[in-house]
Amino acid sequence: MNRKRILSGMQPSGKLHLGNYFGDLKNWVSLQDEFDCYFFIADWHALSSLYEDPHRIKEFSFEVAVDWLSAGLDPEKSTMFVQSEIPEHAELHLILSMMVPVPWLERNPTYKEKKDEIKNVDMSSYGFLGYPVLQTADIVLYKADYVPVGIDQAPHLELSREIVRRFNKLYKKKVFIEPGAKISDIPKLSGIDGRKMSKTYNNAIFLSDGEKEVGKKVKSMLTDPARARREDPGDPDVCNLYPFHKIYSPKAMQDEIASDCKTAKIGCGDCKKMLSETMLEGMKPMMEKRQDILTRPDEVKEILRAGTLKAHALAKSTLEQAKQAMKLK
Ligand code: TRP
Ligand code: SF4
Repeated sequence: MNRKRILSGMQPSGKLHLGNYFGDLKNWVSLQDEFDCYFFIADWHALSSLYEDPHRIKEFSFEVAVDWLSAGLDPEKSTMFVQSEIPEHAELHLILSMMVPVPWLERNPTYKEKKDEIKNVDMSSYGFLGYPVLQTADIVLYKADYVPVGIDQAPHLELSREIVRRFNKLYKKKVFIEPGAKISDIPKLSGIDGRKMSKTYNNAIFLSDGEKEVGKKVKSMLTDPARARREDPGDPDVCNLYPFHKIYSPKAMQDEIASDCKTAKIGCGDCKKMLSETMLEGMKPMMEKRQDILTRPDEVKEILRAGTLKAHALAKSTLEQAKQAMKLK
C-alpha cells in the first residue's frame, strides 16, 4: 500500500503546552494510521531565537521527544528524528538560498509579525529571514505530500510551493513535489490569563504539569470579567475557562454549566472545581505514560536515533537527485 507522506516539525524551544497539543500534536497523533508520517525536532530552526543560549536546545529536544511519546506518537507508526543530525537539511537550504529572491522572504507576513513580536532577542538575522527556506528544505527532502500546519503557517507553505516550482523549472526536472497544506481546525484555547497560551507569557498549562500544578493553574484562570460578584450572571461565551470545559467535560455537564452560569446558579469557584476534575481525568493517560517513559530515557534517545537513520537515507537520495538535475554531480 502506497500511503501519502506527511511531514512536520516542531522547534525545541521549551516543553510543550496544551496549546501545542490541541494545535498540532493531537492532529499528528491521529494522522499516524492513515499516512506515512515523518516528525522531526527542528533544532536548527530553534537557533533562530536561541542563538544566545544554544546549550538549552539539547535539553529541550529531549523534553519535546518525551512530550511527543506521552501524547501518543508511536515509533511503530511514525518516523521521528532530529534535524541537525541530518546535514542534508543544511546543504539543501544553502542550495535553495541561492535561487530564492529576498523580496519573497521579506513580504512573508509571519516574518514581519514575529520579528516585531519577539523583543528579548534580536531577530534581524540573516538566518531568521531565511527560516522558510530551511523549512522548505525540510519538507522537500522527504517529498512530503502534505504538511499539517496551523492557518498562520499557510503563507510559509505557499512560499515552499513557489520555491519548488522555481527549482523544478530551472533544472527542467520534477525533483521536488509541491507540498499541500493540511490545515486542521483548532479549538480556541487561551492561557490562564486570557492571552494566547505561550511559555513566554507564563500562562501555559504544560503536558508535563502534575496534578497539583494543573489544579493550581485552573484555580487562577481568568473567567468572565463581568462576574465581579458571585451573584452576577456570567457569559460562557466570553469566559476564558469555558473552552476548556468544551474540550474536557461531558456534553451534559457543559450544557448545565452554561445555563447555571447565566443564571448565577453556580459560581466560578464551583465551575473551576468541576474543570479540575474532568481535566485531570483527561490528562491522566498522558501523565501516566510520561512517568513510564521517564523510567527508560535511553529508549527515547534510541527511538530518535533509529528514526534519524531511516530519514537520513531518504534525505540523502533526494539531495543526490537535486544535484544531478543541476549537473553538479
Ligand atoms: N516552523 C515550525 C515551528 O515553528 C517548525 C518547522 C520547521 C516545520 N520546519 C518545518 C514545520 C517543516 C513543518 C514543516 O515550530
Ligand atoms: Fe466561566 Fe464557569 Fe465562571 Fe461561567 S461560571 S464565568 S463558565 S468560570
